[in-house]
Amino acid sequence: MKTALTHDGKLRLGVNIDHVATVRNARGSAWPDPLRAALLAETAGADGITAHLREDRRHIRDADIEALMAALTVPLNFECAATAEMQAIALRHKPHAVCLVPEKREERTTEGGLDVASDQNRLTEYLISLREAGCRVSMFIGHDPHQIEASARIGAEIVELHVGLYSDLLAEGHTELAQRELAALHRSATFASSLGLEVHAGHGLTFDNVEAIAAIPELAELNIGHFLIGEAIFRGLGPAIEEMRRRMDLARGMA
Ligand code: PXP
Repeated sequence: MKTALTHDGKLRLGVNIDHVATVRNARGSAWPDPLRAALLAETAGADGITAHLREDRRHIRDADIEALMAALTVPLNFECAATAEMQAIALRHKPHAVCLVPEKREERTTEGGLDVASDQNRLTEYLISLREAGCRVSMFIGHDPHQIEASARIGAEIVELHVGLYSDLLAEGHTELAQRELAALHRSATFASSLGLEVHAGHGLTFDNVEAIAAIPELAELNIGHFLIGEAIFRGLGPAIEEMRRRMDLARGMA
């Protein structure tokens, strides 16, 4: 299979700051401030900031998106469900990228990938105005080749592969299954790249599992949140991001 790398070989790190807002909202106060975390992440070497505005506003709120758009110097990856409300918000702010994710109210986090294949007609229409507004559109999907093909067909520029199952299998000690999942992720990254899609990955990445994922050469960007915000309690957000960056570079032979 032909591989068409759609990036310059450097793996970008997008830092997801949702869970700074989770802690803030737990007390109904104004701190910790997600914008302050985002600015600190920029200083520590984040190549972009990701924020997921959920329908129920459980962490990031509309005012956070406004503040991020006004102050960031790195690109904002605006994560949202493919609803009319979120499309209107994205069109108002015109973030660098819009990552479409499946969303269920009762889930704790984004549990699976988007079913692009079953929703092709609606999504094709949905993407048009976002692309016209200059947003790069990304589909958060599993490694099923049908979902990758459908993403290319509807005009998405990027697919972000959900690596949560790999992370879980590894954490639970299912080494062989984890290796199989990793191989499937690698194959799908190669396939997506051969279709001209830029390939990202995210969900559940930690210091322990990031290197195997970062070593997949077709990947252009990793989006990492929960672990980094948790690790910030122990070593500070800047040092946590720097250590993640170091491990990503190590995996790419760049350290
Ligand atoms: N990428 C996407 C599309 C996500 O939905 C999430 C979780 O919000 C992440 C990356 C980051 O996952 P985690 O918080 O587990 O690092």
